[in-house]
Amino acid sequence: MVIYMNLEKLGFSRSTYSEVILTVRLEEMINAAPMGVLLNDEGKIYLRVYKGQRTHDMIVNGAEDCVLNITSDPILFYNAIFEKEKIPYCPAERVSSPRIRDCDAYVECSIINVTGHGEYVKAFLKPLLINVAERAVSAYHRAGPAIIEALICYTRLLYFKDADREKAESLKKMIGIFRDIVYHSTENNRLREIATKILERSEEALLTKKTTSTCGLPKKS
Ligand SMILES: Cc1cc2nc3c(=O)[nH]c(=O)nc-3n(C[C@H](O)[C@H](O)[C@H](O)COP(=O)(O)O)c2cc1C
Repeated sequence: MVIYMNLEKLGFSRSTYSEVILTVRLEEMINAAPMGVLLNDEGKIYLRVYKGQRTHDMIVNGAEDCVLNITSDPILFYNAIFEKEKIPYCPAERVSSPRIRDCDAYVECSIINVTGHGEYVKAFLKPLLINVAERAVSAYHRAGPAIIEALICYTRLLYFKDADREKAESLKKMIGIFRDIVYHSTENNRLREIATKILERSEEALLTKKTTSTCGLPKKS
C-alpha cells in the first residue's frame, strides 16, 4: 500500500502512461529502452512490450527483474534507442538489473508475470524499492518533450513503414514539426543535432524496404 502511494506521488497512474527508461538483465546481457508503464488496481505496474525488440526477447526468455529509471533527460531517451553503448550504468540495490546513473528516481521491480497478446506481451511488475533523488525543480522546456515525442514517432514509423506507408509518411512529417520546435526553443547544439538525426534516420528508414524491428505503439497515435 505504501509503495502504491509512493508510485502515485511519483506520477504513476492507472489512466496515463508514464514514460520511463526500462533496464533489464538476462544473464550477462543488459539492455535499456524507453517504455510506457501503467498501474493496475493491485498496485502492480505493467507494460506492453512489442515483438521484435530486445526488451521483448529478454523478458520472454526469462529476465527476472528490471529497473524503471525515471528521467526527463531527452539525451538519455535518445541514447536508449540509438546509442545504447553510451548509457552509464550503476548497480541497483535490490535487483540484478542495473540502474542508469543520474536519473531522478528509480523503481526496482521483480517481473512476476508475462502474458502473450499476439504482437506484444504484457509484463507485470512488483515494485520492490523506490528511490528518489533530491533535486531542485526545473522549469519546463519545450525541447526535451519535443525530442521524446519525435523518438516515439520514429519507433512507430519503423513499425508502419512496410504495412501503412501513408501513416509512416505522416509520422515523418510530425518528426519534422518536432524538430522545428526544438530549433525554435533552444540554441543547444546537441539537442538540435539530435532532433535533426531523428529526422534523418526516419528518412533513411523510409528508403529501406524491410526492417526486423516491430514496435508499434497504437496507444500513442
Ligand atoms: C517515450 C517512448 C516510449 C515507448 N514505449 C514503448 C512501449 O510501451 N512498448 C514498446 O514495446 N515500445 C515502446 N517504445 C519503443 C521502444 O523503446 C524502441 O522500439 C526501442 O528501440 C526498443 O529497444 P530494444 O530493441 O533494445 O528493446 C517507446 C519509445 C519511446 C521513445
